Amino acid sequence: MSNSSITSVAYPTIGVVLLGGIANEKTRTPLHTSAGIAYTDSCGSIRTESTIYGDSEMHIYFNGTESKDENRSVKSVLERYRNELQSFFGKKDVSYSSLNYGILSGSSDAGAASIGAILSFIDKKNDIHDIENDIRMISESAGRSLHGGLTITWSDGYSAYTERVLGPEHFNNYAIVGFSFDYPRNPSDTIHQNIIKSKRYKQRTIDADEHAHEIKEMARTDDIEGIFEKAEEDTEEYHSILREVGVLVIRENMQKLIEFIKILRKEFWNSYIVTGGSNVYVIVRRDDLERLIHIKNTFGSKPKILNVAGPAWIKKVE
Ligand code: MEV
Repeated sequence: MSNSSITSVAYPTIGVVLLGGIANEKTRTPLHTSAGIAYTDSCGSIRTESTIYGDSEMHIYFNGTESKDENRSVKSVLERYRNELQSFFGKKDVSYSSLNYGILSGSSDAGAASIGAILSFIDKKNDIHDIENDIRMISESAGRSLHGGLTITWSDGYSAYTERVLGPEHFNNYAIVGFSFDYPRNPSDTIHQNIIKSKRYKQRTIDADEHAHEIKEMARTDDIEGIFEKAEEDTEEYHSILREVGVLVIRENMQKLIEFIKILRKEFWNSYIVTGGSNVYVIVRRDDLERLIHIKNTFGSKPKILNVAGPAWIKKVE
């Protein structure tokens, strides 16, 4: 008997060593090593859910709206696995539908990873790293969400490989508060296309690789604060290069919040990350969470409490 549908769940991501620059728009292979974490909230409700089901012809829906763009990479990935999908569902074709819930940024990684979990489930012979390479066509940092926890995606610009260095349970004593601002976000491709124009880009690729090696070493000794302090150093280098090439992610009120967060360091340990979106992610010890969440002035942003999340998983097979 064949199946009618599979539903999977994956979590969005935050860069820890930020990625800037991809080899080309088709494969989206990163030009350098990067690192990241998957995140959700305390009940796991921040997520992407994807369903793939047997159909007579392919339809692709994002948040309930059909995508008519023939170049969508979701279509290319499903076509690559067409034979396996056809035999699993016993139908001529498959359709895809994904829904995002409460995501601040990093949703495309979750969308891609939720497909990856399904491809891994339907044929156990599919190697997870081959799947990762394929779903990278949808999102360059999909490996972060596919594997969950803290991951490093090693890359030399030709081939990439994601290694999970810490599971989510290692972060239990820490919380992340995502402060979301209303500023419009720069598309990731604007970042990828412009950062490579910087005179400092070559050095940036070397620094990112070094930051990843340092983080791997700190992960070995569970030095979570060291990891996030390195992440802040990485954020500051990345955005100073982006500013020089005319891409402004950290806008006025985001900067004001960052300055305030740094003043709060006199009272309790914290660290911050800004990726490509209009959010400031602040990491604190769980014991200090109340002090951060109750700050009077958020500079117009809305705070959300986040945790490090696990890998993409299969929710339902029918
Ligand atoms: C990465 O795919 C996109 C950015 O958000 C940077 C990062 O998170 O590493 C722009």
